[in-house]
Amino acid sequence: PLVTSKELFKKAYEGGYAIGAFNVNNMEIIQGIVEAAKEENSPLILQVSAGARKYARPVYLKKLVEAAVEDTGLPVVLHLDHGESFEICKACIDDGFTSVMIDGSKLPFEENITLTKKVVDYAHEHGVVVEAELGRIGGVEDNISVGEREATFTDPDQALEFVERTGVDSLAIAIGTSHGAYKFKGEPYLDFKRLEEIMKRLPGFPLVLHGASTVLPEFVEACNKYGGSIHSAKGVPEEMLRKAASLGICKINIDTDLRLAMTAMIRKYLAENPSEFDPRKYLGAAREAIKEMVKHKIRNVLGSSNKL
Ligand code: G3H
Ligand code: 13P
Ligand code: ZN
Repeated sequence: PLVTSKELFKKAYEGGYAIGAFNVNNMEIIQGIVEAAKEENSPLILQVSAGARKYARPVYLKKLVEAAVEDTGLPVVLHLDHGESFEICKACIDDGFTSVMIDGSKLPFEENITLTKKVVDYAHEHGVVVEAELGRIGGVEDNISVGEREATFTDPDQALEFVERTGVDSLAIAIGTSHGAYKFKGEPYLDFKRLEEIMKRLPGFPLVLHGASTVLPEFVEACNKYGGSIHSAKGVPEEMLRKAASLGICKINIDTDLRLAMTAMIRKYLAENPSEFDPRKYLGAAREAIKEMVKHKIRNVLGSSNKL
């Protein structure tokens, strides 16, 4: 069935592991992820961005996720990633999503609270849980200095006030991660002291880590070996993710690693089989690579194997 993350987060928090939230855009990505979760007997969040809804069209992703649930019998959380307005959150809630994110992180504090509260009220009336964001998680194009960056990290006192005043179910925090394949110019750094300060103020409350791809070197190298050009790519080291999961991070968001795995395998397959033109061949290879990559994350990074 489609489930909310309420109980899953509670167990994850107590067990010191995290649940992977994987972005989905098409059938092969969905199948690769759910097959991995099934084999690992792991809880799972599938998340859909506004861009994914635009690309695939809402009804397709909804039905594909329902098909995955029917096929595997797994409990799956269907989550809206980075909803920017009340309207898109409402549309997803009305569509049967079990979880939505309202991302008011670009707004001033009070406006973020007002918007988040409005979504929480509507969602809770419909049995849906809400994730919000406080602090700014960097994006691909953001090119900001360390000082500027510090100012965008989540303030622990504000986090407590935000959660109390909105009634939100989980909170995405900024402690140094960013979206995309270029997360760190120098050495990877996450502000674990800040995470602990936030946790002290919100004991037992589920926190979310965005921008948490590792940017696996094997896939970057394969992309480049077979005609790609991806340079200075750097992600969050696995041990940092393990540490975050063992503390209070209950949800770890992964999209970039799926994109890299898929692209690497399609490039490799086509380069090695130049006369092949059956999409099932190269998409099948990509699906298999996604499955193996997700199994590795579940087992060795998230720690969510056999937690169902
Ligand atoms: O946070 C961003 C996710 O990677 C989704 O990206 O908006 O291009 O679908 P997208
Ligand atoms: P990555 O770009 O690190 O995969 O992060 C994805 C994410 O945070 C989706 O919300
Ligand atoms: Zn994100």
